[in-house]
Amino acid sequence: MLYAVWGNPIAQSKSPQIHRIFAKQTAQDVQYDAMLGDEQDFERQLLAFFAQGAAGCNITSPFKERAFKLADAHSERCLIAEACNTLKKLDDGTLYADNTDGAGLVTDLQRLNWIKPNQTLLILGAGGATKGVLLPLLHAQQNIVIANRTLAKAQLLAEKFSPYGNIRAVELSQLPTQSFDVIINATSSGLHGGTIQINDEILRAAKAVYDMQYDRQKDTPFLARCGALGVQNRSDGFGMLLAQAAHTFHLWRGVMPNITPLFEQL
Ligand code: ATR
Repeated sequence: MLYAVWGNPIAQSKSPQIHRIFAKQTAQDVQYDAMLGDEQDFERQLLAFFAQGAAGCNITSPFKERAFKLADAHSERCLIAEACNTLKKLDDGTLYADNTDGAGLVTDLQRLNWIKPNQTLLILGAGGATKGVLLPLLHAQQNIVIANRTLAKAQLLAEKFSPYGNIRAVELSQLPTQSFDVIINATSSGLHGGTIQINDEILRAAKAVYDMQYDRQKDTPFLARCGALGVQNRSDGFGMLLAQAAHTFHLWRGVMPNITPLFEQL
């Protein structure tokens, strides 16, 4: 059975390693490759990949929205995220799209024991990364405050997701000081080296902080800042990466791999 991850760039992707370990762990006969998508030609490449017999693939930046549009059917969480990180070829040959990012985040927060019903989570950022995880967080009965530099973007998300739970939008600089159960960084700030304009007091008062980005060598800039402020419970998004892959593997193969050994193995 042939699977792959499509993105551009793709050399940095850990997905091939992760899925090969999952396949070994669950004794599944799976081939998993890394595929460099072409900005001009991605749709044709993807359809050719499936025409050649592939059973499924992951989709990463910058193709998640294009894969979403190409799919024939979608899970609810994928539809509302308007982005797809997982495609599965169904028996009738059609392409089913899912988005396992939010489930991956919830699974990782559960692993950390940071998620209990009716907590209040603060999410920083209102881009695609945030949109991809909101539904599973709301389904896990989390109250959500989205804080964004550009208030209008956070408001759009809060309106879109309000039928599913308790969610509201605030401008980042206007956040009142309160103690959030978990503060999740879903901004792209670390990638550009920018600092998030949030009051240190809010970070200091957090029970836990989570960065959806990860760095295996050192703290991400967000976690380093929180650490310097004395926040004890800190995690980067490596567990989320592993858990989203596990949910994808489950969709494809019907078995849920154990992510725990991979923290050591990778
Ligand atoms: P992604 O798909 O990774 O979420 P995106 O759609 O470009 O990327 O969204 C990036 C998010 O990070 C946005 O919410 C952006 O804030 P704005 O909407 O105000 O642009 C946020 N962001 C990026 N750099 C930031 C910084 N230094 N401080 C605060 N927010 C930042």
